[in-house]
Amino acid sequence: VAGPLVLSIESSCDETAMAVTDSHGVVCASVVATQIDFHARFGGVVPEIASRKHTEAIVGVLEETLAQAGAHFGCDTLAPSDLAAVGVTSGPGLVGALVVGVAFAKGLAVAADLPLIAVHHLEGHLMANLFETPDLKPPFVASLVSGGNTMLVHVRAWGDYEVLGSTIDDAVGEAFDKVAKALGLGYPGGPVISKLAAKGNQRAIHFPRAMMHSGDYSFSLSGLKTAVITYIEGENRAGRPINLPNLAASFEAAVVDVQVAKAKTAVEETGVSDICIGGGVAANPELRAAYQKTFGKMGVRVTVPPMRACGDNAAMIGIPALRSYLAGNFAELTLDAAPNAPL
Ligand code: KG4
Repeated sequence: VAGPLVLSIESSCDETAMAVTDSHGVVCASVVATQIDFHARFGGVVPEIASRKHTEAIVGVLEETLAQAGAHFGCDTLAPSDLAAVGVTSGPGLVGALVVGVAFAKGLAVAADLPLIAVHHLEGHLMANLFETPDLKPPFVASLVSGGNTMLVHVRAWGDYEVLGSTIDDAVGEAFDKVAKALGLGYPGGPVISKLAAKGNQRAIHFPRAMMHSGDYSFSLSGLKTAVITYIEGENRAGRPINLPNLAASFEAAVVDVQVAKAKTAVEETGVSDICIGGGVAANPELRAAYQKTFGKMGVRVTVPPMRACGDNAAMIGIPALRSYLAGNFAELTLDAAPNAPL
């Protein structure tokens, strides 16, 4: 086995994930066990179910990850003793979900005598951009858009993050999920809404662009969600059928317009020449296209993570974990879950 190898663990929301990364940053194994089916009928993630499913899945995910890494090196499976360190997402996220990953990582660190590394979940989303753009270097602006977070960050240097602004209520992904729930389209809402939106007319219904001209980097999504739900209820009362593609496209355009407008101001004010997107909503084709269009004209490079690395996964956690390993930046065995950890 070519070492040193870092195992990374991610359990902040509804994916139990592990990966093995070598010292050059090559991902030797990456396993994601999603719980989507268990949450779908509730239209969103139920925290207690998430914790319990992580507990059920986590040993199997480790075995599969070690077997996959073994196959990468042409042997049957790796043993925990083949690893050099174990990194784990310690926050932010659902506290009960984080606790499962953190406690498991600590158990493994003690049992296999490995150093422990704490990773910030959003730094993972941010660094997922390095998979396809390894030359991405600070300073740049990052737009982090997921089911739990919506923020604009000025990345001054790796590890030196200035949060320019964030949502004051719902996250972007949460808005997609809640609109899908109101339409009975299941969970997660993002993929289904974006597929419908591709066939719809963005100008069919006018929805508010909240805080678009607020002069700061704060976002608000709950008014938009309410406007969409009010529209659905109005059409239902009037007995009119809802044109789902038009509704989805109009909603998505309202989200994208605000994201792009604020990101553009952030790029202008910070004077950077790179912007990247991270988080589950970075998979949204309309958002990606709008960024390319706006920033392409300005000569600003847009970097996006590969589709497989947009949603929660442990390969992205492996990047900051490896950096910490190489820098000798280890956590104590008293490490606790930090559900609201600031970036
Ligand atoms: O990053 P992620 O897996 O979990 C969090 O850390 O929150 O993001 C999940 C979120 C969900 O809200 C999901 O609806 C959204 O990402 N999402 C999308 C798309 N694919 C996933 N939102 C919009 N368009 C998509 N294509």
